[in-house]
Amino acid sequence: MHRIVFDTDSAVFNDDAAALAMLLGRPDRVEILGVTVVAGNHTVPQGAEHMLHLLELVGAARDVPLYLGARAPLVNTPERAARQEARWGPISFKGAFDEGPEVQPPHGGRLAAVRPRPTDAVSYLVDTVARHPGEITLVAVGPMTNVALALRRDPDFAGRLRSLVFMGGNARVPGNVTPAAEFNFWFDPEAAAEVLGAGIPGVVMFGLDITNHAPLHRPLFERIVAADTPLTRLMRHDMGPAFAGGPGATQYVWDCITAAWLIDPPVVTRSERLPIRVETTFGPSYGGSSVDPEGSVVEVMTDLDLERFYALYADLITRPLGPER
Ligand code: RIB
Ligand code: CA
Repeated sequence: MHRIVFDTDSAVFNDDAAALAMLLGRPDRVEILGVTVVAGNHTVPQGAEHMLHLLELVGAARDVPLYLGARAPLVNTPERAARQEARWGPISFKGAFDEGPEVQPPHGGRLAAVRPRPTDAVSYLVDTVARHPGEITLVAVGPMTNVALALRRDPDFAGRLRSLVFMGGNARVPGNVTPAAEFNFWFDPEAAAEVLGAGIPGVVMFGLDITNHAPLHRPLFERIVAADTPLTRLMRHDMGPAFAGGPGATQYVWDCITAAWLIDPPVVTRSERLPIRVETTFGPSYGGSSVDPEGSVVEVMTDLDLERFYALYADLITRPLGPER
């Protein structure tokens, strides 16, 4: 059983929200203590609205508190990203850097009745881990700014975690926003480097090396949305456009693979302990990661049982919703 704090750059229903819905669907395997939001896919206020909407939809909004976290990376900025593009070529996705301060209501057209808790996410992380030493699995599926700030705030934070399970980086495969970098690491490379080097016990990496193996294909998407529940209607609304391109269209579901392993460890069939280094020098490889003897040793997940993963994903996304979950 994992006692989880879920740190997310939540967005429209794709991977962060689906991962949380999956975890909430298996209270026999995982307990979600709280959700902390970080800038990444979206600004923090916008991401929080998407996550509150999801929590309300699955009947968990009263039980699972949500906290607002870091609104900007440690060093990276929109201006820096523009300089990077001008000098070294396009960055295919810049998430919150391309958004203004206005917040769009999620699908459904209204903001959730439940609001974020007044405590900030970093204080919540530090206090929760201090109250449960050795018990908390921190699941970080966005840029690692909140985690880095918690480490800076409390020198005992790293040693008190049970483990850190994160989606981010690329060990032996190219990046997905630049040739070198994966999005979560690129958005806040300095945070990723600090966190990997912090000596946290049991660090598990779900990078592009494993998530590239399991895109969602249109036939499975269509089978899932045919279930026609409130959750799959949200999925159809938010992910449908990505599948409009034809029968061969696919969409990556990165964070969901992390969730699947937490629920059902045999989903992952291969992993290696590897030293991973994050590039923090401002240059064409900014935010990239690689296997490097100078890096920090983490458990890098590298392959999975596709049928087992897709079956778990489809089962958990199509379950009936609400308090009976
Ligand atoms: O590169 C994929 C990661 O970036 C995922 O966690 C996705 O949600 C975005 O945060
Ligand atoms: Ca994410």
